[in-house]
Amino acid sequence: MADLRDTIEETQAFYDEYGTDEWDRLATGIDGALEFSETVDTLASTLPSSGRVLDAGGGAGRYSRWLAARGHDVTLLDLSRGQLSVAVDRFGDADIDGDGDSGVDADTAASVDTVSTVSPVQGSITDLGLPANTFDAVCCLGGPLSHLLDEGDRVQAVRELRRVAKPNAQVVVSVMGLLGAVQLYLLSGHNVAALPNLLKHGDYDSALLKRHGYENEFTATHFFRRDELESLLATAGIQVETVRGLEGLASPFHADHIQQVGGELTDDERQALTDVVARTNDDPIVADLSIHMLAVGRA
Ligand SMILES: C[S@@+](CC[C@H](N)C(=O)[O-])C[C@H]1O[C@@H](n2cnc3c(N)ncnc32)[C@H](O)[C@@H]1O
Repeated sequence: MADLRDTIEETQAFYDEYGTDEWDRLATGIDGALEFSETVDTLASTLPSSGRVLDAGGGAGRYSRWLAARGHDVTLLDLSRGQLSVAVDRFGDADIDGDGDSGVDADTAASVDTVSTVSPVQGSITDLGLPANTFDAVCCLGGPLSHLLDEGDRVQAVRELRRVAKPNAQVVVSVMGLLGAVQLYLLSGHNVAALPNLLKHGDYDSALLKRHGYENEFTATHFFRRDELESLLATAGIQVETVRGLEGLASPFHADHIQQVGGELTDDERQALTDVVARTNDDPIVADLSIHMLAVGRA
């Protein structure tokens, strides 16, 4: 049974206290930059050019801002009012009252030349509280599904994502990968004694960590295998078209000491690294090994 610290409420409290780290994450280091660029490249090639998009578990709103700049009307839903406040700070003034009526201009961001709206809404992906058949595309990016420890909650959440999507709309989901996490912990020397058990079920929770005498350095997280992500989406009737890695072969850069090596690369070397990652991310083995993997499906 889940420890109190492994509940949705705990995740909410964790992200409420997380400040701007979520916003910074996608612009920090080789891994953050790859996660962002590979995600938006996929969105650019799969999403319709206009229409309403749900950014579910959108946190501090990096993807919402990108979507708004592209001309979409964006609903940014997140569990954490703290993260929504960071998003609003980045976009300009808006009320976060949970009713979805408060649009904010995204044109305060330097790179935004298309004025569109982002409506912040506080809520959970397990019960979106939004009308069915509403969105031209639905995104759930960076791992919100990984914060649901209970498998039934994960099934409920993907059903919700499908329910609010218009028929045949794109549903784009990224989660945290189990093999990528295990490799990272091996490289960083963290939680190593817990890894054989983590591999069995993918649940990084307080029960696992306590058993091995470790502190929870993150918040409760379910790490996915690639097949498992595909099966979960299929459970909700979402037809999976592709699953790819995001950081892919460069996933080890998530470890601080390897990140330092990345800082020493020349611009040409950095470009070569990006090319290698982009060319290999479609490989099923690479997707499975990635810190984050992204699935594109249809409702
Ligand atoms: C790793 S962050 C990703 C945020 C954003 N999508 C990004 O990639 O920058 C995970 C986000 O999921 C949110 N989250 C976790 N569980 C959630 C739930 N049950 N419903 C909605 N949001 C949730 C957290 O508050 C946090 O903002």
